[in-house]
This record gives sequence, structure tokens and C-alpha cells, in this order.
Amino acid sequence: MKILVIGSGGREHALVKSFRLSPHVTEIHAIPGHDGMSQEALCHPDINWHNFESIVHFCSIHEIDFVMIGPEDPLVSGLSDFLRSRGIHCIGPDQEAAQLEGSKVFAKLFMQEAHVPTAAFAIVESVQETLAASEKFTPPYVLKADGLCAGKGVTLCQTIDELKIAAENYFDKKIFGAAGEKALLEQFLPGFELSFTILTNGDKYAVLPMAQDHKRLRDQDQGPNTGGMGTVAPLSLKEGWTEQIISQVVEPTIAQMKKRNFLYRGILFIGIMMTPDGPRVIEYNTRLGDPETQVILPLLDVDTATLFHELSKGNLIPFKIKNLSVTCVIMAALGYPESPQKGALIEGPLHLDDGNQWVIHAGTQKKEGQYFVNGGRVLGCVGMGPDTEASIKMAYQVVSQIKSQGLQYRSDIGAKVKRTT
Ligand code: AMP
Ligand code: GLY
Repeated sequence: MKILVIGSGGREHALVKSFRLSPHVTEIHAIPGHDGMSQEALCHPDINWHNFESIVHFCSIHEIDFVMIGPEDPLVSGLSDFLRSRGIHCIGPDQEAAQLEGSKVFAKLFMQEAHVPTAAFAIVESVQETLAASEKFTPPYVLKADGLCAGKGVTLCQTIDELKIAAENYFDKKIFGAAGEKALLEQFLPGFELSFTILTNGDKYAVLPMAQDHKRLRDQDQGPNTGGMGTVAPLSLKEGWTEQIISQVVEPTIAQMKKRNFLYRGILFIGIMMTPDGPRVIEYNTRLGDPETQVILPLLDVDTATLFHELSKGNLIPFKIKNLSVTCVIMAALGYPESPQKGALIEGPLHLDDGNQWVIHAGTQKKEGQYFVNGGRVLGCVGMGPDTEASIKMAYQVVSQIKSQGLQYRSDIGAKVKRTT
């Protein structure tokens, strides 16, 4: 089997590592890929995925069996429809369904039609509208830009003054450009946040291990929101929670997808807040989470290349989940998320992979045999063990071997999982 992975982050490196375990895989290509995965996949940094025709050409000369589309941008831009129209199998929803991630307004209206529980909201397009609508909510408020903003389009506002500043940034200063012309004003939801991921062919679905991301930069959930500073899976939830999520969220979501005739052969990642009143959907993502992928894939007791190849053709094959735990600690550049500083040297076992501990590259660059910081999130140090406690320990053992003046990380990944579940 020959696979093409689109993307260049930690998620894509984790996919490559997982696919390499398959005895059926003969070649893995990545467009663009990155230096850190180039020992495991043939990377093609010169090919631009925005040029759909060049992807089709690549697939035909390399006889690619399926394309694993990692990030959201190509899905929202319609890459999956284009590939399928040329007879190439791929993982991802069609462009319309990708709006579940591409437009927060689209997703909210979909949830409303599907009767999926979510936070109360108003659609707003100006500072004045935002302030008027805020009277129906209590602080804190959440203001979400409608379009894709690379994970930066959500502002949590403790007071009405903060909300006014956020609205001015979106609508007057246009910090998100067209993606922030419309926004959702949302009621803040208290609770326990989790990443619930399913595979679906638009009809049937399979539940992947639940994961918990750690969004804030610093320990004890302090500091700014990031793309994710670390993950743990699985979560063992309180009795009845999983069933509630399935009956109140997953089943109605799939039913609504069918009603809308979405062509969906891929992943739906549902960000859920478990509130005292039950589950509430925070967001849909139409791809695997990053860094959730890094802890979910190792738990699947199946040849993942075959799993995704079959799914790209519309078949969902059964699989089991391993009775193990995985933790991923992200090492990020100093200055991340606002202004990551690139260029620092990184030393240590950067290609460690002994089956229980390994290193995922997200933002590294190799020059003359040495690795340097080249992005916001730089490395993911992963540990696997019999339980949460053990996997956390294994992951931090990897962290302790990485030496760099240019990296920061949280020291409490998984601590809340041990406390809350
Ligand atoms: P999103 O990009 O929609 O995932 O939002 C980023 C983060 O903001 C989420 O992971 C949550 O931690 C937080 N968030 C978003 N919406 C809400 C909400 N209604 N209540 C509380 N926290 C929220
Ligand atoms: N970890 C959150 C995301 O992938 O959006």
C-alpha cells in the first residue's frame, strides 16, 4: 500500500509512525512533511497542496492508494471533493461538511437543527450588535470568529469591557480579516473539557479513545490559550457520561449528517464540555486533533493504514482498544503562542522510538545533522504505560533527555485527569 499524508505537524508525524507499523505499507509520502519525519516518510516540500491538480498528478505517478488529509485547511478548501472527483480515495469529509469546522456559525446552526446540546449563542457582526446581545448572557463571555483562525479565533472575556475590546479587534481592527467578519457570542460553560473523536463513513461510526488536551500555556491552566500543550488518553469517565455523549451528541450528529447528505469518510473530533447539566458541544473539528492524535493512534489495536484505507473507500472495519495509557508532553518554542522564537539548538535522543517512549516532531529543522527550533509547537514527547500515572512518568522521562535553551513545556500534563475522572 502507498499512502500520501498531507500536512507537516506533529499529528502528521504521528500518522506516519503509525502507518509504518503496517506490514502492508510499502511507501509513505508526505506533502510537505518536515525534516523530523524524513527518515520515515518521503517528504516533498516543493509541492504545494493548494495546487489540487499537482496532488492528483502526484497520486497518479506514485500510484497512491489513499490520501490522508491531516489539517483542516485543505478540507475546507475542497481538496477531498477534488480528489474523489478524480477517482482518488482520501480521508476527510466533503467541502460542505467541512464547514462544521470551517464556520462556527454553520456548526451552531447544524447543532441547533440536530438538537445537539451546546452553549447559548448569538450571531453578531458589529461591536454594537455584540454589546446589545451580551445582555442576554452573564459573564464570562466567549467571542468566536466564524472562520478558520489557526486556533486563535476564540476570546474568553471576563467582563463587558473585555468583550468590547475583543469585538473592536474582530470587527473594527479586523485582526482575523474575513474570518472575523461574523462571530458567535457564546455563554461561557464551566466544566471538564474532553476531546471525543469518532471515525465515520457518514452512516456508521466508531468511537476512538477519549483524550484530554491542555490548552493553556502554563501549569494549572494559566496563561494564554494555545493549540495544545499536552494530551492524555484514554479518559475513564464517570459512569454514564460516555453513554450520555453518545446518545445526546454523537447519534443526533450522525443522523443530521445523513439528513444533509454529507459525504463523510473521515474523522469527527467533538470538543465537549461536561457541565453539571450534561455534555455541551464546544466545537466540531473535521480532522484528527493535534496533539490528540499522538495519544489516540497508539491505543488502536489495529493496522491503522488498513483502517484508514478502508474508511477512505467507505468501509468501517471493527477494531479493539488497547488497555494502556498514552501521554504526550509538548515542548514549545519560547515566546509561543504569540511570537515563537526560532533557531535554538535542540540536543538529545530526537529519534527515540522504543515502542514505549518516542519523540514526535512538529516544528524542527535539520541543518548539518543538528536539529533547531522551527515552529510554535516543536516536539511531542510521548510515553506509554499500563495506566495514566505510568504513561505520564514515561513521557516526562523523555522530556528530561531533551536539552535546549529555546523550549518550554508544562510540568502538569495529566494531573487533572488523575484528579477529575
Ligand atoms: P475552540 O477553538 O472553539 O476549541 O475554543 C478554544 C477553547 O476555548 C476551547 O478549547 C475551550 O477551552 C474554550 N471555550 C470555547 N468555547 C467555550 C465556552 N462556551 N465555554 C467555556 N470555554 C469555551
Ligand atoms: N487539540 C485541539 C485541536 O486539534 O484543535
